Amino acid sequence: MRIAIIGSGPSGFYAAEAVQKKVPGVAIDMFERLHAPYGLVRYGVAPDHEKLKSVTKVFDMVAGKPGLRWFGQVELGRDIQLEDLTRRYHAVVLATGAQASRRLGIPGDDKPGSYNAADFVAWYNGHPDFRHLQFDLSGETAVVVGHGNVALDVARILLKPVDELASTEIASHALEALRNSKVRKVCVVGRRGPAQAKFTNKELAEFEQLAGVTAMVRDDELTFNEASRFELESPAGDEARRNVVLLRKFSDVAADAVSPNERCIEFRFCLAPVRLEGNDEVEALVLERTALTGSAFQQGSRGTGEFFLMPCHAVFASVGYKGVAPANVPFDARAATVRHVNGRIVDESGVQQPGLYCTGWIKRGPSGVIGTNRNDSVETVATLLADLQAGALGEPAAGDDIADLLRDRGVDFLDFQAWSRLDAFEKQTGARSGKAREKLVQRHEVRAALQAVAGSSLTCTT
Ligand SMILES: Cc1cc2nc3c(=O)[nH]c(=O)nc-3n(C[C@H](O)[C@H](O)[C@H](O)COP(=O)(O)OP(=O)(O)OC[C@H]3O[C@@H](n4cnc5c(N)ncnc54)[C@H](O)[C@@H]3O)c2cc1C
Ligand SMILES: NC(=O)c1ccc[n+]([C@@H]2O[C@H](COP(=O)([O-])OP(=O)(O)OC[C@H]3O[C@@H](n4cnc5c(N)ncnc54)[C@H](OP(=O)(O)O)[C@@H]3O)[C@@H](O)[C@H]2O)c1
Repeated sequence: MRIAIIGSGPSGFYAAEAVQKKVPGVAIDMFERLHAPYGLVRYGVAPDHEKLKSVTKVFDMVAGKPGLRWFGQVELGRDIQLEDLTRRYHAVVLATGAQASRRLGIPGDDKPGSYNAADFVAWYNGHPDFRHLQFDLSGETAVVVGHGNVALDVARILLKPVDELASTEIASHALEALRNSKVRKVCVVGRRGPAQAKFTNKELAEFEQLAGVTAMVRDDELTFNEASRFELESPAGDEARRNVVLLRKFSDVAADAVSPNERCIEFRFCLAPVRLEGNDEVEALVLERTALTGSAFQQGSRGTGEFFLMPCHAVFASVGYKGVAPANVPFDARAATVRHVNGRIVDESGVQQPGLYCTGWIKRGPSGVIGTNRNDSVETVATLLADLQAGALGEPAAGDDIADLLRDRGVDFLDFQAWSRLDAFEKQTGARSGKAREKLVQRHEVRAALQAVAGSSLTCTT
């Protein structure tokens, strides 16, 4: 059996692992648009969360199994089309993640100083597509909108002492910008209450330990309606309950306890962004106080008509990611995910698209940690193998090797050995300046690195 997997983030690797476990001798070709594998583990997970990145060792083992070929710098939709794959493989699994981010969509959010958290994250993580961005960190106050873990990552990177970031794999251009940053206060603003915040306790607790940073919460925002109290007392409210314990600690800190030279973070609740104000650039965020409505665990927020200005110099919208529709694949535009049933891609009427499957964020939307993608991929692969057993997967029409097609098209693809050499190169270069790695960001740097490493070639050798 020949399977193509598009995307080499966690869900792509876990799908490969699940197939390898069930089908000895399976041939898997994995296609990745970038020169490096691992998806958001490399380009999303914060550089100071280095331990989490060790999951890449599991992915390397999957990549090293006989029968798996990794094709770096090959993008579905640019270098290959879906039909190229369906003609050559029994099954195609889309594991392309959520490549876009949600916008605030409020007046003024196109002003200089209004940024997307996802762009900032990709920039400090050295994603090639975001290298050109610039973030003005010359003002003292920044606001992060959203109460998810990405919001906390952004706030922490803005506030963390730069010397502590300097030994991580953070991109050098970001390190330099953060070294010159004047940001002293970060407000993390959510439209719902403390019991509804989506960030997790471990990530919130990091602000207790952050050197030179004081965490604060206003007492009058740490209040709970009946439904929220019910949420906090329920078994499902465990994470929120522990968050509230921490937030109460933060609320004991008086605002005047922060000296003018210190950095601080303030968690604000029940405030919805309304518009960004400023002449040439962001000068303030207008917020509306909200009240919670609805039953426990389903509470939404509605405006109360009370508005106020939060003066600030930069706003980072951290309101979630969204999937991008692959060409000729049924897509649910509202959910921004591929249409599927248990990983089997179906059209609007529920009719199966033979041989097409999906997993990870493009399947279920942008939620869950790295490990969540393992179960997700196991489900998709179980569906795929059930279809195989039922005889629902046809024989591929073309017998030629996709590598030949790519060569014919002049695509400079990389194999996993080439990536391993780049990986070693990055670590060596980083070690010279005391960093975990110095990421190769731009394509010309990748090219030069490959030339610098003896015996390497740009094109696939397997
Ligand atoms: C900022 C951020 C920080 C996070 N931090 C953590 C954390 O600390 N701990 C944790 O457990 N989870 C964390 N997560 C969640 C975790 O990263 C995701 O659950 C996981 O990466 C989703 O996996 P995926 O494979 O579906 O998508 P991705 O990881 O996005 O992988 C998709 C891959 O597909 C490739 N691709 C896309 N389109 C194409 C195409 N057309 N052709 C070829 N290749 C393509 C992409 O380049 C990418 O490599 C974080 C998420 C974000 C956004
Ligand atoms: N360390 C880690 O483990 C880690 C790190 C980073 C990311 N991740 C994971 O990656 C996934 C994505 O994280 P995320 O932070 O991007 O998403 P998220 O957890 O879904 O959080 C998004 C936040 O944006 C808010 N929001 C959405 N639309 C808004 C709007 N129009 N106005 C104001 N606020 C709005 C949401 O509020 P409502 O709740 O009111 O909708 C929510 O607080 C999550 O599963 C996360 O846990 C994990």
